[in-house]
This record gives sequence, C-alpha cells and structure tokens, in this order.
Amino acid sequence: MRLNFSIKTKIILMNMGILIPIIIFIYVTITNNLYSNVIKSNIDLLTKESYNTQVYISNYIEKDKGVDIETNFVHKAPLINTYLSKKLNYRIQIYDKNGDIMTDSVANRVTLFDKDITNAIKGNKAYVVKKIDGNIYILFSSPIYLKDATLGCVRYIYTLDIEEKFINNMFIIMGILAFMSILISWLLSKLLSEKIVGPIKKLKTVSQKVTKGEYDNRIKIRSGDEIEDLAETFNVMSESIKDYVESLKEERQKQKKFLDNVTHEFKTPLTAIIGYSEIIPKLKKQSDIDESLVFVKEEGIRLLKLVEELLDLSKLGKSEFKIDRKKNNLKEIIEEVLIIINPRLKKYEIEIIKDLCDIEVLIDKDKIKQVILNVLDNAIKYSECTNINIKLQIENEKVILNIIDDGIGIAKENISRLFEPTYRVNNLNSINNNGNGLGLCICKEIMKKQNGDIKIKSNLQEGTSIEIIFEGN
Ligand SMILES: Nc1ncnc2c1ncn2[C@@H]1O[C@H](COP(=O)(O)OP(=O)(O)OP(=O)(O)O)[C@@H](O)[C@H]1O
Ligand SMILES: [Mg+2]
Repeated sequence: MRLNFSIKTKIILMNMGILIPIIIFIYVTITNNLYSNVIKSNIDLLTKESYNTQVYISNYIEKDKGVDIETNFVHKAPLINTYLSKKLNYRIQIYDKNGDIMTDSVANRVTLFDKDITNAIKGNKAYVVKKIDGNIYILFSSPIYLKDATLGCVRYIYTLDIEEKFINNMFIIMGILAFMSILISWLLSKLLSEKIVGPIKKLKTVSQKVTKGEYDNRIKIRSGDEIEDLAETFNVMSESIKDYVESLKEERQKQKKFLDNVTHEFKTPLTAIIGYSEIIPKLKKQSDIDESLVFVKEEGIRLLKLVEELLDLSKLGKSEFKIDRKKNNLKEIIEEVLIIINPRLKKYEIEIIKDLCDIEVLIDKDKIKQVILNVLDNAIKYSECTNINIKLQIENEKVILNIIDDGIGIAKENISRLFEPTYRVNNLNSINNNGNGLGLCICKEIMKKQNGDIKIKSNLQEGTSIEIIFEGN
C-alpha cells in the first residue's frame, strides 16, 4: 500500500518517530534507576542497622552468665523487640531458628511470612520488596548468631511510603516533562516543515501559472538553501521559456505575414491574366490579340517565377521576398495596369483621366504593379466612383503618383486604421465585399522598403485621394 503524505507530515512524523522512542527510553531508564536506587539505599541502611542489632543482642544476652543462651533469647526477645522498634521506629519481628514468630512490635497483624525469613535463619541477610494493602514495604531479615549458633532472625518491616510518594511525584513530573518536550518538538517540527514547505508551495503556485502560459511570473525566495537555488533556476527557466515562446510567436507572425504577402502578390498576375482573357475575345485586330497574348504569357511567367521563388525561400527556411529594384518607366507600368483592369473599368462605367509623364524611377516593377493595382482595384470595388484621376508628377525632388476617385470616400476615423493588417471599412454597398483588408498594409510595406511611402486623404461623399511617393533620382 502506498501512503501519500505531504512533505510537512513526513517531516513531523520523522521527527516524532525519532523523538518519542528516545523520550520513552529516557523516561523508563530514569524512573527504573530511581526506584532501584531508593531500594538500594534503604537496604544499605538496613544492613548497617542489622550489624548494630547483632552487636546489641549479643551483648544483651551474653550479659546473663550461666543461663542457657537460647532460653535467655526466648525470654528477652520481647524486650529486644520493644527496644529496637522504639529506637528505629520500624515494625520489628523476631523469629526463632525454626522460622516461627516469637515477637512482633505491632500486635494482631499478619506475620507476612516470606523467603527472607527462610534465608535469614539459614544465616544470610535477605530481603523482599512487597506490596501490602496498597503500600510498598521492604521486608529485611538478618540472622542472629551467638557463638556460631543461629538463634533466629530479626526482621525490619520498612515502609516505603515517603519514597513511594516521592517516586510517584517524580513519575508525574517526568511524564509532564516528556509530554512537554514532545509537544515542543512537535511545534518546532511544524514550524520547520512550514519553513521548508512554504517556499515549495510558492514554487508550485508559480509553476502552475507558467503551465498556463503566464511566463512573466518570477519567484522570490530568500531561504538561503537549495530551494532558493531551485527558485533561481526556475526563474531562469521561465525567462528562457518566455523568450522561446515569444520567438515562436514572432516566427508565426512572420510566417502569417509572409503568407498574406504571397497570396496578395499572386493576385496581380492572376488579375492580369483574367483581365486579358476578358479583353481578347472582344479584340478585332490580330496584332492587338497577339500583343495581349504576349502579356498573358508574361504574367504567366511572372506567376511561375513567384512560385519558384516561393519554393526557394521555403528550402532556405526564409520568409521574405526580395525586392529587386531596377530603373523603370513608371508611366509604362501604369499603362500596363490600366490594360489589365480595363474590362472592369468598362463594366462599371468608370472613366480614367490621365495626366502622366515619362519618369524613370528605381523600383521593383512587379511590386509597384501590385501597389497600383490594389489602389485602382479598391477604387473600383469600394468607392462607387465614376471618375478616377491618375496624376504623375515630380514635387520637391520626389516622384508622386496621385490616384483620386470621386466616390463615397472614407470616414476620418477609419483612415488612420487602413494600413493596419486585415482592417476593412464595413461597406455593404461595395461591388465586391470579399477583400482581406491586407492590400493597403502590404502596399505601405512595399513602398517603405523602396524608400517611398503611400498616404490617404479622403472626405465622405467627396472621394479618396491616394498618394504614392517614390524616391527621386
Ligand atoms: N478608394 C476607396 N474608397 C472607399 N473605400 C476604400 C477605398 N480604398 C480602400 N477602401 C477601404 O479600405 C479597406 C482596406 O483596403 P485594402 O486594400 O487594404 O483591403 P481590401 O481591398 O479589403 O482587401 P485586399 O486588398 O487584401 O484584397 C477596404 O476594405 C475598403 O473598405
Ligand atoms: Mg484592396
């Protein structure tokens, strides 16, 4: 059977398990020694007394010359008894050599015959400790000789009344002391175990919090022992878990962003291919058809390049497309984007008013196409506009592309949040309400990476103006 005790209980049980037997052992040894010492000292006293008695009786009997010793002893025994009992203040008995009582200092009492008598009349001092009527007595018998003959014996009946009381009191005091020391050590064990268990409990609470993902919790333990070291190690561990989890979160964030960028980037060539496939059937001239097919092929190749790049990045474990900046004519890029979205402009009867000039800028053509396409796509999808103004100009050594629609506009409070990922203005009337809210955020990132920027100005019911700023040459 497995007993599950807490550390606290184990410490208390261990201390009590050691202490209680020790205390019981000390208690029993001391009380036993005390008892036997009391008996021994009284026996010594009685032995000494018995020598005096022997001398006294010898002198007393030998005094009467010519009288038979034994007859004289029988005759004088009552007097001897009276003398001894008065002198010593004990109960005294005198027995003859056959073990029969001759005289007793206390009349009409039982004789209490015992083996001390048998031994004494054989010539040996002997004693018996006996409990009589609830009191303890030492029955000490000593032989009486005269001229090598044993006349009988004298017996001292010594009561241990006072000693018994003293021993009993000692038992009680020692019992109280033993109980007190067990109680004190139990309290001390409890305090000690609480001192040990307290920090462990603290450690447990914090580690439970860590398992729930609260990695910021730290433990402060100043016990100056191994538990303090453990708490320090635990804190270091929590810190590394926190760092690790944060790096994982960062990595996940990065991967999500990458996935968002990739899907958005795929949109440009796909929109282009769909756009041309809508135009081609409506074209009459073979040269226009051939030109459009070249564009379809180019966008198809671009799509393939993107997939290959994606595979390469995945092999290298990287999660960022590179920006490939080259000198490009911005006007040509805008025209290309306009061809792509032309079918949709026609479908929604949106007129494009262009004010373009040939400007060469250092940019990643495909990425800039993606930006312009998203801005125009937004205007078509959300603004309900009839005109889109596209103006390309140089201002303070910067190349600025303005794309202005005369649509519904965007509320002031929403404008600042448009560059946040996945933020969308809830516009139920919009043509296509299934965007992801990523476009403008990605556009901002693309422009920033090329030292440019993208800004929005908008007034409700007046329209939206998107300013795309390029780094000048
Ligand atoms: N010209 C505009 N007129 C009115 N609202 C606009 C205009 N341009 C953008 N918006 C609002 O800004 C929001 C964010 O546009 P954004 O291009 O970032 O995302 P999206 O077009 O919804 O999704 P995605 O581009 O990822 O497909 C749009 O959902 C739309 O509500
Ligand atoms: Mg968009």
